[in-house]
Amino acid sequence: MKTKVYGHRGAAGTYPENTMLGFTKAVEMGIDGLEIDVHLTKDKKVVVIHDTTLDRTTSSSGRIKETKLYEMQHIGINQMYKSFEKYDNTWDKERIPQLNEFLTLYKDENVDINVELKTRAEHYPGIEEEVYHVVSSLKLIDQVVFSSFNLETLVNLKNLDESVRVAYLSEEVPENPGAFIKEHDLEALHLSFNDVMEKKEELTEIAESLRVWLVNDEESVKPLLQMGVGAIITDYPEMVLKIRSEYYL
Ligand code: G3P
Ligand code: MG
Repeated sequence: MKTKVYGHRGAAGTYPENTMLGFTKAVEMGIDGLEIDVHLTKDKKVVVIHDTTLDRTTSSSGRIKETKLYEMQHIGINQMYKSFEKYDNTWDKERIPQLNEFLTLYKDENVDINVELKTRAEHYPGIEEEVYHVVSSLKLIDQVVFSSFNLETLVNLKNLDESVRVAYLSEEVPENPGAFIKEHDLEALHLSFNDVMEKKEELTEIAESLRVWLVNDEESVKPLLQMGVGAIITDYPEMVLKIRSEYYL
């Protein structure tokens, strides 16, 4: 199996993270999958953003949890993006996407969607139901893999629909990872590059069930291709895709 390339928050190294612009550019680069992060607004709408607050990536501030959707709809990207090499003032039109807007754009496209529920640093009662509802209303359950650092979130999703594909973002390699995957009915384990390299021997036999983040250095790509991991998650999809195309000549 050919290792897939997933754009992390779109193509976060080059374009504003978790924006439609970044997702569009990542798809143009030829990625196989998009990794996005989701939170719940005060009025329980699912929005695509990484942090629990607006502060780092947008022109506003405050917790997502305490902000209503309509209040977010006029917020632009953070000033820091002006220092990005490719910046131009059309970027200022980007807004925080809602999950349904994002999914509508990629419905029926040949792109895997990895929706990461950010339920570790913030408590969002009912987020699993809301996210599941958005994805299933668009009939995209088969195209989406849900991930989280919070195992309980994945259990809650499975309880809603046992056919959903879930992946655990583990902060360490679980003891006996193959058995762990079976026990929790996981589609994959999402592990950090360092953890994978540290336990390379042990992980080789389940390599296809691994998605590895965050692979932003050229020298990190080849060892993962040689190992045959399921996917590489990167802020620089263009770079990883280039190395992959040379590897599979
Ligand atoms: O899904 C991989 C990666 O996105 C997990 O960490 O903090 O970038 O969401 P984070
Ligand atoms: Mg993420």
